[in-house]
Amino acid sequence: MRPKIAAGNWKMNGTAAALCELDALSRALPENPPQVVICPPSPLLFRATDAVHGCPIQIGAQDCHTEEAGAFTGDISATMIADTGATHVILGHSERRDTHCETDADVQAKARTAWTSGLTAIICIGESNAQREAGETLDIIGAQLDGSLPDDVTADNTVIAYEPIWAIGTGKVPSIAQITEVHDFIRSRLTTRFGTEIGNALPLLYGGSVKASNATEIFAVENVDGALVGGASLKADDFAPIVAALA
Ligand code: G3P
Repeated sequence: MRPKIAAGNWKMNGTAAALCELDALSRALPENPPQVVICPPSPLLFRATDAVHGCPIQIGAQDCHTEEAGAFTGDISATMIADTGATHVILGHSERRDTHCETDADVQAKARTAWTSGLTAIICIGESNAQREAGETLDIIGAQLDGSLPDDVTADNTVIAYEPIWAIGTGKVPSIAQITEVHDFIRSRLTTRFGTEIGNALPLLYGGSVKASNATEIFAVENVDGALVGGASLKADDFAPIVAALA
C-alpha cells in the first residue's frame, strides 16, 4: 500500500503571519489524515516546524544545494534543512529548472545530499506546452526520470511529482486520460528500472492547478497517490478540502 500524500508548495509566498494557516490546517484535518507536508519559504522553516509540533503535519523545504557547506552565497544545504526539523525537500521544480537552469544531473546530486541528511526528496518532472504539442511528453518524462533519480531510490527516501508546466498556476488541468497515461508510464518506467517492489512502492503525486473542485476526480486515478499543490495550499480553507479528498 502506498501512502497518500497531500503536499503544499508555498513557493515565494508568506511571512511569519502565514504560519497561522498551519494551525488552522491542523484543526481542519480529517480523523485519519493522509500524510500532509507543507513546504514554506526557507526563512519560515524553523518557525513552521515549531508551529506543527504535536500535530501530524510535516514540513519541507523547496530546494537544497548539492554540497553540505561552503562558499555558496544565498544557498541552503540539506543539513541546514534537516536541522530545522523539516523532513522533506522539493527538488527539480520546473520553476527552478527554468529560472535557475537546474539540470537532471543537478537534481540527482541534490537528491543524494538530501538523503544523506535524512530528508525525503520530492522530485518534480513535467513537460512544457510546446513539448506536449509536439507529442514529446513521454520522451521528456522518461528522460527526466532517468536523469533525475539516483540508482538507490527507495520508497522511503523519494516521492515523484508529475507537474505539467502548462498546468502550473494556469487553471488548466490535463484530462483524466492524460494524467492516467503519464502516471501509468511513470509507474512502468520505475518498475522497469528499480524492480517491481520499489517501482510499485514509490508514491506518485500530480501537481498543476489542483483545487478542491477537481481533487476527488484526480485522486481516483490509480497511479495518483496525492498532489503537490501550489496556490491552493496557501490558505487552510482551500487546502483542507484537498486533504480531505485524499483521506
Ligand atoms: O509545486 C506545485 C505547483 O507547481 C503547482 O502549482 O499553483 O498550479 O497548484 P499550482
